[in-house]
Amino acid sequence: MYGPIMPYADTLPKQRSFGATTRPDVWWLQPLAVFLGFSAFIIYSTWAAFQGVADLHNHVCHYWYGGEHGEQGGANYLSPFYSPEFWGNSPHAIGKLPAWWPSWAPFSPAFLILWVPAGFRFTCYYYRGAYYKAFWADPINCAVGEARKTYLGERYLPLIIQNIHRYFMYLAVVFIFLLSYDAWLGLWFTDVAGKQHLGVGVGTLVLTLNAVFLAMYTFGCHSLRHLAGGYLDSKSKAPTCGKAYNCITCLNQRHMMWAWISLFWVGFTDVYIRLCTAGIIQDYHWHF
Ligand code: FES
Repeated sequence: MYGPIMPYADTLPKQRSFGATTRPDVWWLQPLAVFLGFSAFIIYSTWAAFQGVADLHNHVCHYWYGGEHGEQGGANYLSPFYSPEFWGNSPHAIGKLPAWWPSWAPFSPAFLILWVPAGFRFTCYYYRGAYYKAFWADPINCAVGEARKTYLGERYLPLIIQNIHRYFMYLAVVFIFLLSYDAWLGLWFTDVAGKQHLGVGVGTLVLTLNAVFLAMYTFGCHSLRHLAGGYLDSKSKAPTCGKAYNCITCLNQRHMMWAWISLFWVGFTDVYIRLCTAGIIQDYHWHF
């Protein structure tokens, strides 16, 4: 009545060979797009950060736009790659490069701050899932055969270091306020007499959207969500935390979308300011 009984081990699914799958869709397209998108951003942001080395050496400033041909009477746009500017050439700079800085060591104002957004994104829960697939194919994608036979996850070195994300989150929140302040400064235009006027320029909108998009990404962070209310057994016992948790959850549901929009826009903001300072495009603005 019944057929021969198979050994239990033979009934388990066999591990597929690397890249083997029964998925009918173009499963490699998303990792490829992620690879190209991240690579483009990393190359551009590294190039933009190193431009500050030449700027400081030549006593010019291509990461800040203050008006046509550098004359007084214009805008006040600082690239987000250089904000906050501790030592540099723009009016935003807190100080000049100190004399004790070794002459053989290249310095750009971007070097002091870019590690914060870079570390925040590198350890982001969404980005981890995306670049593990796109850059080292481990896993290569859902339901696609892997090269490795064991799974160590993020419980051991080196990937256990990703747990540092929550600390980068604290710093990233501070950056939202700093970049919002830069957008506020972008609302003020100085005339030839040195008087400031409230106004709005295309650059103001670019800077404002940059702060907004980065806020949507940062305030949807999984770590922030846990901090706000994820640790609670019952949200009803702490209604304020519960509401904050719900708000963060709203943004968190679109975390991937905000991650990409904010990544693109922060790069675009730097491009826009560089094109203005190079005189390639003109910033249109209106003020009272
Ligand atoms: Fe993506 Fe924190 S999880 S920013």
